[in-house]
Amino acid sequence: MFDIQKVRADFPILSQKVNGKPLVYFDNGATSQKPQVVIDAISKYYSEINANIHRGVHTLSQLATDAYEESRLKIQKHINAQFSHEVLFTAGTTHGINLVANGFASILKPGDEVLVSALEHHSNIVPWQMLCEKTGAILKVIPMNLEGELIQSEYDKLLSDKTKIVTVNHISNALGTINPIREMIAKARKFDAAILIDGAQATPHLKPDVQDLDCDFYVFSGHKICAPTGTGILYGKEAWLNKLPPYQGGGEMIKEVTFEKTTYAELPHKFEAGTPNISGGIVLGVAIDYMNEVGFENIQKQEKMLLEYATKKLLEIQGLKIYGTSSQKTSVVSFNIEGIHPYDIGTIIDKKGIAVRTGHHCAQPIMSFFQIPGTIRASFSFYNTTEEIDLMVDAIKKAQAMLS
Ligand SMILES: Cc1ncc(COP(=O)(O)O)c(C=O)c1O
Repeated sequence: MFDIQKVRADFPILSQKVNGKPLVYFDNGATSQKPQVVIDAISKYYSEINANIHRGVHTLSQLATDAYEESRLKIQKHINAQFSHEVLFTAGTTHGINLVANGFASILKPGDEVLVSALEHHSNIVPWQMLCEKTGAILKVIPMNLEGELIQSEYDKLLSDKTKIVTVNHISNALGTINPIREMIAKARKFDAAILIDGAQATPHLKPDVQDLDCDFYVFSGHKICAPTGTGILYGKEAWLNKLPPYQGGGEMIKEVTFEKTTYAELPHKFEAGTPNISGGIVLGVAIDYMNEVGFENIQKQEKMLLEYATKKLLEIQGLKIYGTSSQKTSVVSFNIEGIHPYDIGTIIDKKGIAVRTGHHCAQPIMSFFQIPGTIRASFSFYNTTEEIDLMVDAIKKAQAMLS
């Protein structure tokens, strides 16, 4: 049974007032709020078992190491990775993508091609541009249509024996489009191209099955799924992780160091140099447990209802246009109101305690495609309600009246 009030009570911040009004938090695409179990787990770690991991024989170090490695196993199970050493702890999606892009510098040759999609967040564009600059590879872009969907026939045309890696998000942060990644992965396979999926916006809404998807890499951030910032996961197929060189050198990632030569540790440690975010890694497991307890079926049901309700209510506002109108969408509504700058709406409704994101959402190419400076983005989570949507719609109408 999904009891929305019970779920909301798990998140202390949701009972806060902001600017004297009850907080309406619709910036979940940027980061999620944290339930009390997560907040408590951070405090418990530092109060009870704080120690460095993988190095001490003392009890605390063992306890911290066990908790960290248990969390890795939990995440392995959550995403259905074949081996736990395919699950690397990172600082977030950006870190994971950079790790892979950096590794491909030793693989790509001039003239090889990297395919990115027109729907990407900057963190899934810039590392590949940097890679292409370094290697002489060529960056090609899978275009999108006016609904905010990738044009699959264009993808088919772009794929060739020259394609070495395809990188695409599972769900677009700016528009909410759910990309047909299963089909896109299968197509990349035919050309022996690797494929990375940016799951930053998907993991808050669904449980990815990396074996079923058959992707080579899947990355996501902890902070978007109820865990602390500075946490994340890079899943990589064992064969790829063995093939890629380490990203950073340092402690923990070595087998043996001499001044003549260093040999590297086995997976996953080869990619986990230095002291990691230990509490964050442990608490990421706690957050995933929490989301599984709420249940992804419940999450999807609630968010689908919110998306439909918000879309209907927002479209009643005169001059409002929604960007991202695919039938395959998650709980994100990106919109503008004719004649009004998105920042103005965002600033005015903030005074009423309503938090939405305004701007280009780190996806400037999407804004260029639509020839707009940015949008207002309301991104809903399972802990949001239709009453909150009513408050937002009402506040927008008042802002519109003020500004026009
Ligand atoms: C689709 C997508 N990719 C990548 C990122 C970058 O994530 P992070 O800043 O957590 O590294 C985000 C963050 O909003 C995102 O939405």
